[in-house]
Amino acid sequence: MTKTDLYQQTVRRLADLLSGETDFIANAANTAAVLFGSLPDVSWAGVYVNRDGELVLGPFQGPPACTRIPFGTGVCGTAAAERRTVVVPDVRRFPGHIACQPDSRSEIVVPICVDDKVVGVLDLDSPVLGRFDADDQMGLEHAVAIFLRNTASPG
Ligand code: SME
Repeated sequence: MTKTDLYQQTVRRLADLLSGETDFIANAANTAAVLFGSLPDVSWAGVYVNRDGELVLGPFQGPPACTRIPFGTGVCGTAAAERRTVVVPDVRRFPGHIACQPDSRSEIVVPICVDDKVVGVLDLDSPVLGRFDADDQMGLEHAVAIFLRNTASPG
């Protein structure tokens, strides 16, 4: 199966799963579970929620992670501050990378925006260098769009 096919299948599954539920935490939990369970070579998948300008750990799959990340810090805080997806092929070459996962070698973070406000970020880590590319960016941005279509802002 190609990566594009895998994302199409995964996003379809996500849309089915999220329909009928609008709660941010519930839908973030199922989004993390579907992505972690469907995508190969992913060691962590989860959501950080914007709480008063700080990213606070939300639902995730994988080992325990750091709980608070200021905007502008690390990969997550950079994606949130700049409101754009950040793809990091080699975390050791990203200045300020926060090493929550000791085995993480590459990472992708997609901001979750309502209008112009960042309500959270979707973060995936991999133990494989260069794991995430433009196809992953497109697929995960699609997953975030499906998430937002079904989900109310966090309370
Ligand atoms: N590496 C991230 C921190 C979050 S963990 O990877 C789950 C960062 O630099 O923002």
